[in-house]
Amino acid sequence: MKKINVAIDGYSSCGKSTLAKDLAKSLGYLYIDSGAMYRAVTLYFIQNDTNIESETDVLDALNHIDIDFSVTPDGKFTLLNGVNVEAEIRKMSVSDRVSEISAIPSIRKKMVEQQKKLASAKGVVMDGRDIGTVVIKDAELKLFLTAEPDIRAKRRFDELKNANIDIDIESIKANLLSRDKIDSSREDSPLMRAPDAILLDNSHMSREEQHGFVLHLIEKKLLD
Ligand code: DC
Repeated sequence: MKKINVAIDGYSSCGKSTLAKDLAKSLGYLYIDSGAMYRAVTLYFIQNDTNIESETDVLDALNHIDIDFSVTPDGKFTLLNGVNVEAEIRKMSVSDRVSEISAIPSIRKKMVEQQKKLASAKGVVMDGRDIGTVVIKDAELKLFLTAEPDIRAKRRFDELKNANIDIDIESIKANLLSRDKIDSSREDSPLMRAPDAILLDNSHMSREEQHGFVLHLIEKKLLD
């Protein structure tokens, strides 16, 4: 049966991963959370106090980093050197540094290589910031998600509350806006809409509406 790749990019906390997970489940595709990879690198750099001003230190750290995903009936977990760091990488200490660290070209090079390999067999739904523009330029379906900042902050607040992470909504909104700014203005593969990506503002769409809408687009692509 024909398989395609789906690339989902967009601003922070726009529901990219929720949509990507739902689609991968419906289609029996592999879901790759590229943001989790940059978060895992950031966690390693924080844990090891890596000096990001030193290219030698950054390259040395990269040589000691292995990122993988484990998929179990309980969900998907990000592994950093074999250790499950899924909860750790969602903390604000990581969110506060991830945009700065993911802007470093040598880090992007290594992550993009791994992401391209993962997508090469098709049947992948990947979300991030440069998936449609760099990682899977030939994806059959590209989406660019956006939503109003207050709605995004509320969604992230609810997510973190469910994970028992205590944080006020204003700090979340400030973090989202600051990440959007850094992610969109960096020199190496900035966040931008690929010319062939479909723009989707999901501010007033339910999870199910969005899922149904995109699934319909995929079904059309599969018939092409
Ligand atoms: O998707 P996320 O919010 O977990 O991503 C965390 C950060 O990682 C995001 O602010 C920028 C960076 N990122 C990136 O530069 N490129 C990607 N493909 C995915 C994420």
